[in-house]
Amino acid sequence: MKQLFLFLCTCLALAVSFAAPAQHDVETAVPSEPQEDSHYDAKFDRCEGIEFDAIVPDEKGNTFFFKGDHVWKGFSGPAEHANITFKELDDYHHLGHVDAAFRMHNKDGDAQKDHDHIFFFLDDKVFSYYNSTLEDGFPMEIQQVFPEVPSRLDAAVECPKGECTTDSVLFFKGDEVYSFDIKTKTVKKKVWSHLPNCTSAFRWLQHHYCFHGNNFTRFDPVSGKVEGSYPKDARHYFMRCPNFGHGAGHRKPPCKLDAISTDDTGKSYAFTGNTYIRLDTHRDGTHHFPITRLWKEISGKLDAVFAYGDKLYMIQGSQIYIYKSATPYTLIEGYPKPLKEELGIEGPVKAAFLCANQHVVHVIKGQKMIEIDLAATPRAVKTELPIPITDVDAAICDDDGVKVFVDSQYYVYQSPRILAVSKINPLPHRMSSEKFECEYDSGLQKPILQLPL
Ligand SMILES: *[C@@H]1O[C@H](CO)[C@@H](O)[C@H](O)[C@H]1NC(C)=O
Ligand SMILES: *[C@@H]1O[C@H](CO)[C@@H](O)[C@H](O)[C@H]1NC(C)=O
Ligand SMILES: *[C@@H]1O[C@H](CO)[C@@H](O)[C@H](O)[C@H]1NC(C)=O
Ligand SMILES: *[C@@H]1O[C@H](CO)[C@@H](O)[C@H](O)[C@H]1NC(C)=O
Repeated sequence: MKQLFLFLCTCLALAVSFAAPAQHDVETAVPSEPQEDSHYDAKFDRCEGIEFDAIVPDEKGNTFFFKGDHVWKGFSGPAEHANITFKELDDYHHLGHVDAAFRMHNKDGDAQKDHDHIFFFLDDKVFSYYNSTLEDGFPMEIQQVFPEVPSRLDAAVECPKGECTTDSVLFFKGDEVYSFDIKTKTVKKKVWSHLPNCTSAFRWLQHHYCFHGNNFTRFDPVSGKVEGSYPKDARHYFMRCPNFGHGAGHRKPPCKLDAISTDDTGKSYAFTGNTYIRLDTHRDGTHHFPITRLWKEISGKLDAVFAYGDKLYMIQGSQIYIYKSATPYTLIEGYPKPLKEELGIEGPVKAAFLCANQHVVHVIKGQKMIEIDLAATPRAVKTELPIPITDVDAAICDDDGVKVFVDSQYYVYQSPRILAVSKINPLPHRMSSEKFECEYDSGLQKPILQLPL
């Protein structure tokens, strides 16, 4: 049985991949995946509005939604018996339910062997799965693995270093939150009374969500702070349901960048309009978020972004903002400043980039590449070279060389020098519409709206 549903959306389309939430695109008819599968069991329909027991992604980025003895795999499709994938959970607790689950983030130290494992909590037991296989020795008592964390939890979610101060796990029980430091195995108890009691918790693309009933609330994993208008109904965002979506029509943003950069911690971003997209976390899906989500002081579109040391330099018109690349990004005192004062050049510029372990920033302005030595005092223009390429939108220097973006294409040069001396442009590459979650010249370049997810 093939049914077609139309989705309406005020916001940016979400990723289409299996790993990403429902796509909302007014012009796309989305087939509900026909499932004449013997696993199918109509006992639960998540589009009726479900309070999930647990939500957790696996090492491949597939997200599981648990309710009772059922599980949904991914952001669309029907439920199946959880025992098909996680047999031992059911053996232990026949027809019961999981209390909580999270995906371990632990890349440091001995315990690295746990990285990307899913930990399930049932009553007083914990189960560790990897590749849908229960690890030897499990189940164990929760306190054997997570000392001082209570049994019969409501929710759990990982919080990697960078988002929290250390690699941590947040455990929820009633209105209490236990922040567990993975390395020291110590617990800090917190009370975030403004946050609803979470029945499941989920981290998606560096954002933390508390689910309660069929609603969810986004929260800051360090302070518990809630910013924005919440709760929101999960059916509009985290699953594909008929008659749910974000409202009136919008398409994906055009494949045209304003800026692109990778910070010293390896976080890679592309900027278009008032949104950014992370490029290095593709496993879990892709999504455009408002720039203000990470860089509160930036409003509107950026012209150029580059990383130098542990800082991110963001140029807009004749101003420059410098952020410290810790999480959260913090604007350095005294900024924004005039670009002239910081780099000795006038805005606006088109692009800027720095190659690894260098201290010379290459700024593209008009059809020139200006080189400025950031280590020199005072900073001044070192060289100014004409470049063979016009209408540059964005540029980055990475392992492949210098990538120069023009509309939906980019050119790769082995080095900044080669970019400057080239007489003819190399063959262009097409921007991946999947990676950048964008659409080739749609003709309809509407302003990009902020996505409240
Ligand atoms: C899973 O659970 C269902 C319902 O209890 C049962 O019919 C089925 O045999 C179980 N499958 C496995 C593989 O244990
Ligand atoms: C994952 O599990 C499957 C079947 O259980 C097995 O064939 C495969 O080799 C495993 N993959 C890894 C990476 O361990
Ligand atoms: C939240 O949990 C506490 C117990 O920790 C309970 O007293 C309270 O009633 C719960 N609130 C709601 C709205 O369920
Ligand atoms: C969900 O949120 C709406 C408001 O957005 C509220 O009216 C409703 O009671 C909430 N439901 C649950 C189960 O939290």
